[in-house]
Amino acid sequence: MAKSDLPVRDSFTSKFGVIAAAAGSAVGLGNIWRFPYVVGENGGGAFLLVYLLFIVAIGMPVMLSEFAIGRKAQRNAIGSFKKLAPRTPWYFVGVIGVAAAFLILAFYSTVAGWTLEYIVKALTDSFAGKGEAEISGLFETFHTGTFRPLFWQLIFMGVTLWIVMAGIKNGIEKYTKILMPLLVVMIIVICIRSLTLPGSVEGVGYLFRPNFSALTTEGILAALGQAFFSLSLGMGTLITYGSYVSKKENLGSTVTQVTIADTLIAMLAGIAIFPAVFAFGIDPESGPGLVFVTLPNIFQEMAGGYFFALIFFILLGIAALTSSISILEVVVAYLKEELNLTRKKAAVFAAIVITMMGVLCTLSFGAMEDVTIFKTTFFDLMDFTASNVLLPLGGLLIVLFIGWYLGSSRTREEVSNENTLRVRYFPAYIFLIKFVAPIAIAIVFLYGLGFLKL
Ligand code: TRP
Repeated sequence: MAKSDLPVRDSFTSKFGVIAAAAGSAVGLGNIWRFPYVVGENGGGAFLLVYLLFIVAIGMPVMLSEFAIGRKAQRNAIGSFKKLAPRTPWYFVGVIGVAAAFLILAFYSTVAGWTLEYIVKALTDSFAGKGEAEISGLFETFHTGTFRPLFWQLIFMGVTLWIVMAGIKNGIEKYTKILMPLLVVMIIVICIRSLTLPGSVEGVGYLFRPNFSALTTEGILAALGQAFFSLSLGMGTLITYGSYVSKKENLGSTVTQVTIADTLIAMLAGIAIFPAVFAFGIDPESGPGLVFVTLPNIFQEMAGGYFFALIFFILLGIAALTSSISILEVVVAYLKEELNLTRKKAAVFAAIVITMMGVLCTLSFGAMEDVTIFKTTFFDLMDFTASNVLLPLGGLLIVLFIGWYLGSSRTREEVSNENTLRVRYFPAYIFLIKFVAPIAIAIVFLYGLGFLKL
């Protein structure tokens, strides 16, 4: 088949476009909402250290593997495995990914909806003159409600759907390029204010002083889950995005840049949150509400806090959006390429199913708070199953696929752009994905889920 006969595949148009889209996927609520509260639930410094270790030893190699698979196969998360490993069960890795996409976007859209409510709260100056207790009360009243959280979730899913329907080029690239750097600037300003609050030192110590007695095997699993979640790994998001990346791109350097950006923003979020948590006497184990009850207190103490709050929550909403589109895209690319639905039909169908599951997540803080499975609410169950089970499992299978099925010479060809790039990191990468990552993931998994006991 001549090149021009190939169906024209949507793709990213520039180097910065790829990094922007991948970083846009990675940077989101995972960094600013999830990271601080998971750190808080797991005792601080020691958790952070393990998290960083996982990012480098497991996260980066998995990310490179996903990009390589997607770009080599030029297909969606499931189709890529069918193409590279025909007539084998490997495509099941993609099936796990598509399933995870449904679960993740369901609870993700709940929290993204909260950020939209907080844009309105900021706009209407709702935090002004309020103390810590009242600010916590605002969150409590709002997120346990029915109409407002559902309304915002619906709006968020609507916008996500609209962008994904527009396709990769006109949608995803355009929105990410300018706004992410602005978000970084905003967080740095918030960090400065947080660090200069009276009593902030304790929070800095909490985040950076490792206290290993606070770390449990569940905590280590949570660190692994957070690493996967934050870098958008284990689900085929970056297989799908990799399939839109040009053959001239340097995948290795893209991985480094995306990882640095993502980790930096999570760290900054931690530095913004924890000093304030201790300064205002908030419980670090407050759970999913942590960011929403902490940040408004900081804004209150800031010159120009009104504007900072407003701009910050707008940017957080946008960061959530550039991530949510990457999650929905996994499902849409699959339905479109494997089941031959149009992009539009695929997107609408997926969004409707996800929204229905999302409603359960949203209501699990209020009207359906008592409906539990295995003693957990829908929200926690979907988050736990996706982040701590499906993503690490997907990641494990992805590294096994590259390390033990595809093999190092075919992989080297792909990441070195047919041997035109120098890839000095390659032996280290192969060692990590063949041995270190699979063994580490398997051990963390079995202990974290309680199958093995120390
Ligand atoms: N990484 C994003 C965040 O931190 C969320 C996300 C996007 C994601 N795509 C994903 C998480 C794929 C897991 C898998 O907010």
